[in-house]
Amino acid sequence: MSLRSTYFAASVALLSLLAPISTLAQVAAPSAAWEPAPASDGNNATVAGSRSQWENTFGDTLWFYDAQRSGVLPDDFRVTWRNDSVLTDGESVGLDLSGGFFDAGNMVKFIHPLSWVLTQIAHSALLHGDAYTTAEQEYYLDSTLRNGLGWIMNASSQTDELYVAIGNESSYWGGDQGIPQPRQIFSVSRQKPGTDVFAGSAAALAAGAMIYAGTPLPLSQTQNGTVPTGLLDTAYATELRERAVVLMDLATTAEPQQVYQDATDGVAWAYPSTNYEDELVLGAAFTALATRNISLVTTAIDAYDFGSFPTNNGVLNWDTKDPLLPSLMARLSVAMPGADSRANFTKFQTDSEVYLDLLVNGTMQGLSTTSGGLAWWKDYSEDSSLNPALNAALLCLWTANLTSNDTKSTSYLNWAQSQIDYSLGHNPLNTVYQVGLHPNSAYNPQSSLASGGDDIDQIDTDPPVERWVLYGAVVGGPDKDDQYYDVRSDWQQSEPALDTVSPMVGISAYFVNQGSSAAEPYYVGLTAKRIVPKMSSGGLSGGAIAGIVIGVIIALALLGAALWFCLSRRSPLAGRRRRNRKIMQG
Ligand SMILES: *[C@@H]1O[C@H](CO)[C@@H](O)[C@H](O)[C@H]1NC(C)=O
Ligand SMILES: *[C@@H]1O[C@H](CO)[C@@H](O)[C@H](O)[C@H]1NC(C)=O
Ligand SMILES: *[C@@H]1O[C@H](CO)[C@@H](O)[C@H](O)[C@H]1NC(C)=O
Ligand SMILES: *[C@@H]1O[C@H](CO)[C@@H](O)[C@H](O)[C@H]1NC(C)=O
Ligand SMILES: *[C@@H]1O[C@H](CO)[C@@H](O)[C@H](O)[C@H]1NC(C)=O
Ligand SMILES: *[C@@H]1O[C@H](CO)[C@@H](O)[C@H](O)[C@H]1NC(C)=O
Ligand SMILES: *[C@@H]1O[C@H](CO)[C@@H](O)[C@H](O)[C@H]1NC(C)=O
Ligand SMILES: *[C@@H]1O[C@H](CO)[C@@H](O)[C@H](O)[C@H]1NC(C)=O
Ligand SMILES: *[C@@H]1O[C@H](CO)[C@@H](O)[C@H](O)[C@H]1NC(C)=O
Ligand SMILES: *[C@@H]1O[C@H](CO)[C@@H](O)[C@H](O)[C@H]1NC(C)=O
Repeated sequence: MSLRSTYFAASVALLSLLAPISTLAQVAAPSAAWEPAPASDGNNATVAGSRSQWENTFGDTLWFYDAQRSGVLPDDFRVTWRNDSVLTDGESVGLDLSGGFFDAGNMVKFIHPLSWVLTQIAHSALLHGDAYTTAEQEYYLDSTLRNGLGWIMNASSQTDELYVAIGNESSYWGGDQGIPQPRQIFSVSRQKPGTDVFAGSAAALAAGAMIYAGTPLPLSQTQNGTVPTGLLDTAYATELRERAVVLMDLATTAEPQQVYQDATDGVAWAYPSTNYEDELVLGAAFTALATRNISLVTTAIDAYDFGSFPTNNGVLNWDTKDPLLPSLMARLSVAMPGADSRANFTKFQTDSEVYLDLLVNGTMQGLSTTSGGLAWWKDYSEDSSLNPALNAALLCLWTANLTSNDTKSTSYLNWAQSQIDYSLGHNPLNTVYQVGLHPNSAYNPQSSLASGGDDIDQIDTDPPVERWVLYGAVVGGPDKDDQYYDVRSDWQQSEPALDTVSPMVGISAYFVNQGSSAAEPYYVGLTAKRIVPKMSSGGLSGGAIAGIVIGVIIALALLGAALWFCLSRRSPLAGRRRRNRKIMQG
C-alpha cells in the first residue's frame, strides 16, 4: 500500500463523512423536462416548436442513458416507465454501487465499456460543448456524467481495489423489478491488476474533471473547443482529477501489467480486452491534460511509443482505442507545448493522417464496404456493425480540424457523412437505425426493459410490439448484405448498448454545433417505404445463415484450418463484443 493511496483513502473517508457525493445533477433541472419528439415527426425539419432535428437526435441520445440508469431514480424522472432497481449492488463489499448504467439489453454493469463511453461523451463536450448548451442538454449531460463518473468513483473508493462488473451472464429477460439476486461482483486490485481498466477509468474521470473545471480540448492547432459552462464545479473537478491520478498510479505501478480478464473471471464472456497499451495512453493523456502535470505527458508518450502506436489498421471501439490516440496526442501537444520534447504536434498529426487516409481511400486492411455503403471490418462488424463505422465517422469529424491540408479534411468529412447518412436512412432498406426518430426507425431493440416481455422463450413475439419506445437507441446494425431483420432475439443486429449510442452523442453534438449551416439529418424527408426482410428460418439472420453456409464450404475444403479459425474466433481473447450469448438463443 503506497503512502499516497493511504492518504487518499483517509481523505475519501473524511470527505464522505463531510459531504456524501450526490447522484443528483448540480445543473438546475429545466422547468419542463426535455422529451423526445414522436417518431411520426421524423420528416419535419423542426419539431416541438423550434427544435431542429439534429437537436432532437442529440437529445434522444442522452435520453437513452436515462433509460439505462440503475439505482434510485430522481423523483421527477422523465423516463416514467423505469423504476428504482438493484438497490443492493455493492452492499456485499460495503459500497453503494446501485447507481451507474445497465450496459445493454440485459442487467449487467461493466466498468470497461462504461468508462470508454463516458470518455467519448466527455471528449465531445470538450470540443463542442456549446452544443449541449444550445440544445438544452446541459442538465442531462451533467446527470449522465455524475451517475457514471460517480459510479466509477464509488467502485474505486477502496484502497487499491476497483470493482469492474456486477452481475453474471444470465438468461434473465424481464423488467427492472424482478432482477435475480444475489448479483455477483468482480474486482481487480493492486495484487491482481487490470491495467486496462485502471487506465481506462482514469481517462473517464480525468476527461470529466476537465469539463467540471471548464478546461476545453484544443479544437485545432490554433483554437480551443468550447466547454458547457453550466457544469462548472471546481470542487467536483478536483475529486475526479485526484482519483484519476490514483488510478493511473495503479495502472503504471501495479505488477504484472495485464488485461483485466487475467485477474477476474466475470468479464471475459462479454467484454474481454485485447491489450492495455491503448488505455495507458488514453488514461495518461487525459490525466495529464486534467492535472497539467508534465511528468504524465512523458508517461503518455512513453506508453504511445511502447505500444508501437499508431497501428494503422483496425477498428476504433470500446476495446481498441488505437485510432483515437494520434489525434488526442496532437491535442495534448498543443495544450502542453514543450512538456516533453517528443510532444510534437506535426508527428502526431502525420500519424493521425496515415490512419484516416487508409480509411477513406479504401486501402485499410480488413476493411471493405457493403454494397449499400457501410464500412465493414472483417471479424468486427459481424456484431454491431454500425458501431465501428460510427466511431470512425466521429473520429473523422473531430480530426478534420487537425489536418495538414484541406483536401484531407474534406475527404474525411465526406467519408464521415456517408456513414452517418447510412445509419440514418441512406441504405437499401430505407431504415433509420436509431430508435424513435422517424417512422422508418428500427422498432425492436433487444432491450429487456423496453420490450415489456418476461418470457425468454417468446422474446420475439411477447409482446408483439415493443412496450416502450427506447428513444435514442442505436441498434447493432445490418449484416454484410445490408439486411436488417428487426427481431429482438438477434443481439448482433438489434441490441443497443451504452457504446453503440455514444458515437451518435458526439456526431449529433458536432452538427448542432454547426448550427444552420449543417445539412439536415438524412431521415428528414425520407418518405420511401421501409423494407423489413423476413427471416428465412427461425432465430437466425440471413447473414448468420450465409456465415454457416460459407463456414461449411470452407470446412469441407480446408477442415483443419477452418476449425482453427472458428476456435480462434470464438476465443474470449478475440477482443470482440460478446454479449448475451444465452439471450441470443431465445
Ligand atoms: C410535423 O408534421 C406533421 C405533418 O405535417 C404535423 O401534423 C405535425 O404537427 C408536425 N409536428 C410538429 C412538432 O411540428
Ligand atoms: C456513491 O456512494 C454514495 C454513498 O457512499 C451514494 O450516496 C451515491 O449515491 C453513490 N453514487 C453513485 C453515482 O452511485
Ligand atoms: C416499473 O414498475 C411498474 C409498476 O410496478 C411496472 O408496470 C413496470 O413494468 C416497471 N418497469 C420496468 C421497466 O420493469
Ligand atoms: C485554450 O485553453 C487553455 C486552457 O483553458 C488556455 O490556457 C489556452 O490559452 C487556450 N488557447 C487558446 C488558443 O485560446
Ligand atoms: C456465472 O454463473 C454461472 C451459473 O449461472 C456459473 O456457472 C459461472 O461459474 C459464473 N461465473 C462466475 C465467474 O462466477
Ligand atoms: C506529477 O505526476 C507524477 C507521477 O504521477 C508525480 O510523481 C508527481 O508528484 C506529480 N507532480 C505534481 C506536481 O503533482
Ligand atoms: C516533429 O515531427 C516532424 C514530423 O515527424 C519532424 O519533421 C520534426 O523534425 C519534429 N520536430 C521536432 C522539434 O522534433
Ligand atoms: C491511401 O493512404 C495511405 C496512407 O496515407 C497511402 O500510403 C496510400 O498510398 C493511399 N492509397 C491510395 C490508393 O490513395
Ligand atoms: C473546424 O472544421 C469545421 C468544419 O470543417 C470548420 O467549419 C471550422 O472552421 C474549423 N475550425 C477550425 C478552428 O479549424
Ligand atoms: C493534401 O492531401 C491530399 C490527400 O491525401 C494529397 O493527395 C495531397 O498531396 C496533399 N497536398 C499537399 C500539398 O500536401
